[in-house]
Amino acid sequence: MNLNQHTALYGVIGDPVGHSRSPALHNAAFLSTGLNAVYLAFEGKEIEGCIRGIKALGIKGVSVTIPFKTAVIPYLDEIDPLARRIGAVNTIVNNKGRLKGYNTDALGAAKALEERTKLRGMTCLIIGAGGAAKAIGFMLKEKGVTVSIVNRTRKRGETLARSLGCPFVPLVDVEGEKGDILVQTTPVGMYPHINQCPVPEHILEQGMVVMDIVYVPAETRLLKSSRNRGCATISGVGMFIHQGAEQFRLWTGMDPPVEVMNKAVKEALSEQDERN
Ligand code: ATR
Repeated sequence: MNLNQHTALYGVIGDPVGHSRSPALHNAAFLSTGLNAVYLAFEGKEIEGCIRGIKALGIKGVSVTIPFKTAVIPYLDEIDPLARRIGAVNTIVNNKGRLKGYNTDALGAAKALEERTKLRGMTCLIIGAGGAAKAIGFMLKEKGVTVSIVNRTRKRGETLARSLGCPFVPLVDVEGEKGDILVQTTPVGMYPHINQCPVPEHILEQGMVVMDIVYVPAETRLLKSSRNRGCATISGVGMFIHQGAEQFRLWTGMDPPVEVMNKAVKEALSEQDERN
């Protein structure tokens, strides 16, 4: 990387950001496309100051992560309609000092699914009712998928189902449910609890497409069982790469080098596996 006075600055704001794989993903993309740009991780303590910093220093594009995805909205000059509906922003584009917020988490999930299945006319069980479930639920509805929300807690599940205009299924009743696609959005199965699976494994039927948003480990217990039962599986790594690829597209107007990004993230994750 050849940094100089013309280097464009990008980064992620959040707290914590020490675990983020976004610098690996974006710097690999900048390097491979020959862009004079660098991407750093900023541990931000308060969002208002972060926004002032972005404007004052002319940071060209920013990824937004926990805990700022919702809190950032009032500080932006413009919000993309999908991000507005989802109520969360994970990407900021700085256009000559005007900040516009987008949500590429949702688009990333749809792109990762579209690599393996058509979406229009399909049915999908979404496990969980947090921010990720909301983003993916809105996106899939927009893509013509019939969605059901499956959640442990009734209140949260019903609230999301109501805002999506779709059915709610208590997690304990998931056995009777069928879906062409299953999207897992809870932290269940994430390292170090790698033997946990959020749904009874016999509901995973041959031919289903199963996506887990957890990406450490890359193959969760759910995905392993799904693969053994003849389902097509998509890991959280796939969704992560595509959300980053869509950020790259928004920031540069160029087609993202998805394969390069894929390789960089997998390398960063395998370094972590070695440390674990
Ligand atoms: P995010 O906003 O990042 O998607 P979140 O707000 O923490 O995450 O949401 C987590 C989701 O995982 C919730 O739907 C939560 O279920 P509850 O509404 O019942 O809390 C679900 N979840 C977390 N731990 C779970 C567990 N052990 N079993 C089942 N669901 C779980």
